[in-house]
Amino acid sequence: MKTRILVVEDERTALQSLALLLEDEGYEVLRAESGEAGLQIALRQEPELILLDIRLPGLDGISVLRRLRAGHSESAVIIMTADTNSSNAIRATQNGAFDYIAKPINDEHLLVVIRRALEYRRLEQEVRALRQPPVEAPSIPGMVGQSLAMQEVYKMIGRVANSDATVLITGESGTGKELAANAIHEFGRRGAGRLVKVNCAAIPEALLEAELFGHEKGAFTNALARRIGRFEQAHGGTLFLDEIAELPLGVQAKLLRAIQDRSIERLGANATIPADFRLITATAQDLGHAVAQGRFREDLFYRLNVVNIHLPPLRMRAEDLPLLIERFLNRSERLVRIREDALAQLLAHSWPGNVRELENVITRAIVLSPGGVVTPESIQFAGRMTNGGATPEPALDYHDGYWTVIRRVESQLIRAALRDARGNKAEAARVLGIQRRLLYEKMAEFGLSE
Ligand SMILES: Nc1ncnc2c1ncn2[C@@H]1O[C@H](COP(=O)(O)OP(=O)(O)OP(=O)(O)O)[C@@H](O)[C@H]1O
Ligand SMILES: [Mg+2]
Repeated sequence: MKTRILVVEDERTALQSLALLLEDEGYEVLRAESGEAGLQIALRQEPELILLDIRLPGLDGISVLRRLRAGHSESAVIIMTADTNSSNAIRATQNGAFDYIAKPINDEHLLVVIRRALEYRRLEQEVRALRQPPVEAPSIPGMVGQSLAMQEVYKMIGRVANSDATVLITGESGTGKELAANAIHEFGRRGAGRLVKVNCAAIPEALLEAELFGHEKGAFTNALARRIGRFEQAHGGTLFLDEIAELPLGVQAKLLRAIQDRSIERLGANATIPADFRLITATAQDLGHAVAQGRFREDLFYRLNVVNIHLPPLRMRAEDLPLLIERFLNRSERLVRIREDALAQLLAHSWPGNVRELENVITRAIVLSPGGVVTPESIQFAGRMTNGGATPEPALDYHDGYWTVIRRVESQLIRAALRDARGNKAEAARVLGIQRRLLYEKMAEFGLSE
């Protein structure tokens, strides 16, 4: 579609020649010979740009400009005036005109100013689109929750998905940061490309650089073959760097360069490879704090934090609990119901481990409810072991030494799981999330045979 320009000019020959000039440039031209007519057309047809004469019979240019702003017109306005020194011209820009040009009009100059104004308007609209919520929050598959806080998150995801803006996802552990990253990728224009994930905390520092940037054969002692790094794998797609606060300072510098240059170098190579990636990072830590402590580069922080999506902790959106509980109960292959008192217990919990904790608690509860009904007895919150109100557990006193304390905790965990599983070792191992073999070994170690 052609860009439409409205020319408001009472002198007919001037109007004619402007219209011809603009049409030659490929614009569609709307014409008005008075302020009133111009205002009507402007508000009804919303042209991208308006060339507005100041001196008009009746409603003058400045008044038209004011009414356009009052009517929330988004057209860019360029004022045409014979007297650029007049207070009129100044007032025009104060009233939201993009620019003003002197009469008699220099065609070349006019076209330059028009192009600049259109570009500016486009940028302004893009920025506004990022700021303003779309009318409705898109629903994000896999993400449950209708609270206002989550709707804000969905809107943000919807807004950034179709841009290439770098996104920093923050939020406590288990709040759904990775789910959000998945959604941004899938909904965006890079959805057909790869989503490459790297957990910066899980890879030893010595290997991280090669993992990210790749290396040539022989780049270092163990580089037996060329390796394509994660940046290259993400070419045309999205790179998700999880636990970004854990990125070592040396690698931070290289990441910054990759973002700035949009290119990378494999270790041991001289050639620069263009890298077309969309970057999403996530952290449960306070990155600003890491910057203050000198653990994280400030310049990189600003590069990563172009758009911030913050996932609210579950305790701040308790109204989402019933939906989430239902979702996780329905995941079970068999029909599972939850008793009122058990539900009340879940609703009253503060969920320090957020959605992940809820998911785990329900998965465990289902296992512990062979009858298909979740009762308070089958609910165990993380970190709190049911010990039947008997002897208090010995405190974690580090004076006893690391391994002694660890062994004590291990032994307590296994005892508690076995007791709650009523001695069923398969079930205890499953609840603990360990191999059954390991459970047998530990039982022997702690003298827990039968
Ligand atoms: N809104 C949600 N709806 C449904 N499931 C969710 C939601 N948020 C999180 N989950 C589930 O909770 C678990 C944790 O989510 P995720 O891994 O995205 O959290 P995280 O913020 O990345 O946590 P961490 O900081 O510990 O890595 C996942 O199994 C995820 O599917
Ligand atoms: Mg995560």
